[in-house]
Formats: sequence, C-alpha cells, structure tokens
Amino acid sequence: MDRAGTVATSAWSAPGRVTLVGDHTDHDGGLSLPFALPLRTVVRARPRADATVRATSAVVPGEPVELSRPVARGEVEGWGAYVAGVVRVLTHSGVEVPGADLRVESAVPPGAGLSSSHALVLAVAGALADLAGATLSREDLVELARRVENDEVGVPSGVLDQLAILSARRDRLVLVDAAEDAPARTSLVACDPVGADLVILVVDTGAPHDLGDGRYAEIRADLDRVRGRLGVGSLRRFADRLGPERALEELADLGVGAREAGRSRHVITENARVAEAVRRCRAGDLAGVGPVMSASHVSMRDDLGNSHPVVDLTVDTLVSAGALGARMSGGGFGGAVVALLARERVGEAESRLTEAYAAAGLAPPGCHRVTPADGAGPVD
Ligand code: GLA
Repeated sequence: MDRAGTVATSAWSAPGRVTLVGDHTDHDGGLSLPFALPLRTVVRARPRADATVRATSAVVPGEPVELSRPVARGEVEGWGAYVAGVVRVLTHSGVEVPGADLRVESAVPPGAGLSSSHALVLAVAGALADLAGATLSREDLVELARRVENDEVGVPSGVLDQLAILSARRDRLVLVDAAEDAPARTSLVACDPVGADLVILVVDTGAPHDLGDGRYAEIRADLDRVRGRLGVGSLRRFADRLGPERALEELADLGVGAREAGRSRHVITENARVAEAVRRCRAGDLAGVGPVMSASHVSMRDDLGNSHPVVDLTVDTLVSAGALGARMSGGGFGGAVVALLARERVGEAESRLTEAYAAAGLAPPGCHRVTPADGAGPVD
C-alpha cells in the first residue's frame, strides 16, 4: 500500500464459464451446473496522475476507452460500456476509484456464450477495487456484476455467470442454487474428466450470440406470464411442491400459448436434469452425465426454442462422432457447445466437425479441450 490507501499496481484474472447442464433456470430461482474455463481475462491496472480511467484491449484493437469523471450512463458503447459500468457502480457504492490505466487481455472468445462480459466486469472491478484499497466481498462482487449488466448495459441476465466465476475451483463443478426465496448459494461438485479418461470439449460455433437483442428478455417475460397465471414465485418451487410430473400436467392444462408452455416445461425438466447430473457426478459416474446433457439440448431446441441451426449441426455431428453427450451452453440463440467424449474419440470428433462446417460453407469452429479451472481473483 502507498499513501491514500492506493496500491502501485494491481491485476485480476477472471475465467469464462461454460454450463455443463442447467440453462435458463437461474432467473426462475433454479439450479445450474457450470464450471470455470481455463480461458481467462486478465486486467492490469496502474494509477494515473489525473482522474481519467483509460482502458486498452489486446482483444479489441482500436481506440482506447477513455472515461473522464463523472461517467454518464450510456456514454460509451461496446466493450467500453462494461468498463464504464464498473466505474459507475463502484463509485455509487462509495469506492473512490482513482484515475487508472487498464490493460485488458483475454482468451475468452467474445460473443460465444462463454461469459466473456462477466469475466471482463469482474476482472476490471477487482483490479480497480484493489487499486483503490477497497475490499469487496464475494456478495458485493455478485451484486456489482448484476448492476453493471442489468442497470448499466441493459442486459437482463441472472446471477449464474458471476456466481460461477467467483466460486469456481479447479477440478470442481459449481452447483448454483439461485432460489428466489433465499440468498443464492453455491456448492462444489468434484469433476475429474482426465481421471475418467474423458474430455470436455467446448466448441465456439461462431454463430453469434447476443443477450441484448431482446430474445433473452422475451424468454423471461414468457416465464413471468406463466408464473403469474399459476400464482407462484418460481416454477422450480411449483415443481418441488407438486412433483415434476404433476407440475407438468398442471402446466399442460393451464391454457397458455405453446411457446410459454414449452419454455416453462424446459425450466421444470432442466432443474431435474441438474439434480440428476449432480447425483451421477457424486456417484463417480461422469460419463453418465453425457445423456443428461444431450437431453438438455433437445429441451432447449424443442421446448425453450433458443437453439440455432449451426449449434444443432455441431451437437448432431459430435453425437454421431460418438460423443457421450453434447449441448448448447449459456443464454443461447447461438454461441458455444459443450460436449463430453471418451478421450480416444476426440481427434476424430474434431475432424468431423471441421468437415461438417466446410460442407455447410462455414469456417472451422474453435475447439477447446478444457478442465474445470479456478475462479476469479488477484494475480501477480
Ligand atoms: C446468460 C445469463 C445467465 C443465464 C444464462 C442461461 O449467460 O447471463 O444469467 O440466464 O444466460 O442459463
């Protein structure tokens, strides 16, 4: 520490996340099973003599983001909006954010549904808070990320990503319980693909994914309407109370539109799939999670209605190349696919993907063989 409680330099690293199973459940107070990727965003911060916050990115070349104070909401667009959002929310929370030069480096593919935006937000927030000599708890950071995404950037996301990124541990999945009637909780579930001779493959399909385009908000609005008709706070609790089968029957009799009914069915069945995946992992049967993942993809494609033709091509190609399971991960309408494969099948599966993409006139996808990594925190 030097004078005024600031430090000379600081750096934070935050991973992207992938959801093994359990999407579009967090905003209904449900269960999800993500883990942190070894692909990370690192932000290094140095104090400046003036009050400006200036950020440069190795990922997005071009003009740096320059913020003079006070920063107005909506003043900056693109990735800079997340940096501006962090500065605004930290300042409103009473942190005296000093002038700073930020250097952003990232291996998290942007726009792939791997939570590159939450990785950026949390790494910027951690680095700036450290520079200011402020201590933020995990709960503070979860709330900060929510406010940046929801209030500053205007993306109506839930709490899954920041909870996963902040709670993750190497060789562990993060069971996120976003119960709407209690503080969100996380617990860790052991996951050792290498020991089981398995590979988790994350495929960046290149099909663009944008949570701000209105379709994510439409899913949330549809579910709100159904909860309103049922008079319940969450479909998760509704299904807990009645049992999933009765809950699904009542839903079918409710007389809501096919789209709303399908989306609600996804939420109820997806919570059950997360519970089943956790049971199988805890029983040492990681391979048994494969079919649960594939069932989750079918549910997103047919019930939730948030898949994409290139995503479906990817999932189908992987499954026909022998994957134990494959599904889209994250908010959807494009983005990434996560698959579980026996080690000896991976090379062949990757070649089959390249061929299938070429036949469809597409550039080869980005394939990452991953194991669960540590969550966000300071780095040297
Ligand atoms: C996005 C949101 C999360 C979650 C997922 C879907 O990543 O940020 O809160 O809703 O979509 O599971």
